[in-house]
Amino acid sequence: MTDSLTVRDNRTGVEYDVPIIDGTIRAADIGNIKAADDAPGLAVYDPGFVNTASCRSSITYIDGDKGILEYRGYPIEQLAENSSFLEVAYLLVHGELPAKEQFEHWVHEITYHTFVHENIKGFMQGFRYDAHPMGMLMASVGAMSTFYPDASLIGDPENRRLQIIRMIAKMPTLGAWAFRHAQGKPYVYPDNELSYTGNFLSMLFKMSEPRYAADERIEKALDTLFILHADHEQNASANAVRAVGSTQVDPYSAVAAGVGALYGPLHGGANEAVLRMLKRIGSVENIPAFIEGVKNGNERLMGFGHRVYKNYDPRAKLIKKACDDVFEVTGVNPLLKIARELEKIALEDEYFVKRRLYPNVDFYSGLIYEALQFPPEMFTVLFAIGRTPGWLAQWLELTTDKEQKIARPKQIYTGDRQLTFTPASQRWA
Ligand code: CMC
Repeated sequence: MTDSLTVRDNRTGVEYDVPIIDGTIRAADIGNIKAADDAPGLAVYDPGFVNTASCRSSITYIDGDKGILEYRGYPIEQLAENSSFLEVAYLLVHGELPAKEQFEHWVHEITYHTFVHENIKGFMQGFRYDAHPMGMLMASVGAMSTFYPDASLIGDPENRRLQIIRMIAKMPTLGAWAFRHAQGKPYVYPDNELSYTGNFLSMLFKMSEPRYAADERIEKALDTLFILHADHEQNASANAVRAVGSTQVDPYSAVAAGVGALYGPLHGGANEAVLRMLKRIGSVENIPAFIEGVKNGNERLMGFGHRVYKNYDPRAKLIKKACDDVFEVTGVNPLLKIARELEKIALEDEYFVKRRLYPNVDFYSGLIYEALQFPPEMFTVLFAIGRTPGWLAQWLELTTDKEQKIARPKQIYTGDRQLTFTPASQRWA
């Protein structure tokens, strides 16, 4: 068997042998296929990059048919069960698990970079009272590039490392302040004696007590949720980070683009939609009528189905487990009963079985976030904090990959050509 593809161009009768490498053919090889010597090369048309690999990556592996997700080769289940978010962040960024001293140093550095410049606080306070926290996060991450102009030196490994630490450290500070802003409460400064997640909870919920002590089970559940969101290979926001990063701009600008992509309802906003749907269903008795509506094509069962997973999303299984821990502290969210019954019915119903529609990461996460007293606008901010090490690992891989170029797709031009311009003074006369 030869690892190549023979393509016959019926316009010319010429045959081409195109090598197959790693299950892909090179778009540049397709570009060599021409109708005439001076004609443009053949291109592929792929809106949404549904079947186009944009990079080689060794960060995250997904097998959607089998429901497998691995970070740097480690199954997500093992990481969620036995690791911590900062250890997973180290793994994603460095490619291997840390030795004890490396981990201690990593945690120390991240802990001591949690403060942001006082001027950032000043401009965050300038947002309107009802500003969406994702808009505030996107703007403040982008603005950080002006506070750290050295971040433009992306060719220097030590500099890249410093910006990565700064960003992982400061993201919870910015996210928590966006939350406090909406509530009209004073911003809380980081407490470096607390854990990463404990400090985040303190910046969110501390009032006048000398030290905010989060319930350990809540701290652990949020840490697990961050792990589950830490990376997901070439999704829309990772692609945005890579596209902007490919211009060799500083990482704050690239990650701000990732936050912007995540803000969109097709990416980070589905858990909010699940919550709205569950509230609308209202009670278990209304589920059959709702399911009928979905099957008749009137609406979608939010939190079900995935572009890549055609099996139970492994993250959904783990989140379901985390639900129990959180509800032990907060009391059971009454919507859980509806969610569980919906899931049970959908997993047995032929419509969903035939289309391989299973719960995805968003089906249960909104229930946890609501139980933790987060308003729906904050759900995506939590996703962004968890995803930051993934974005940075993708950015780092991009900056050190010699094959990468500035992201510049082709188009199929469908407009007019060679029109004759008449000046406005004549057109309007
Ligand atoms: N409820 C009912 N039917 C569905 C659903 C759903 N949630 N999802 C897909 N289908 C049906 C769809 O109508 C189509 O049926 P038919 O073949 O009869 O036309 C078939 O399943 C295939 O659907 P598709 O739209 O071609 O699948 P896709 O891969 O383009 O869409 C999806 C994936 C996630 C956009 C979609 O499943 C969906 O809209 N789900 C609900 C929204 C949601 O939960 N989004 C969160 C995704 S996970 C977040 C993340 O990983 O970042």
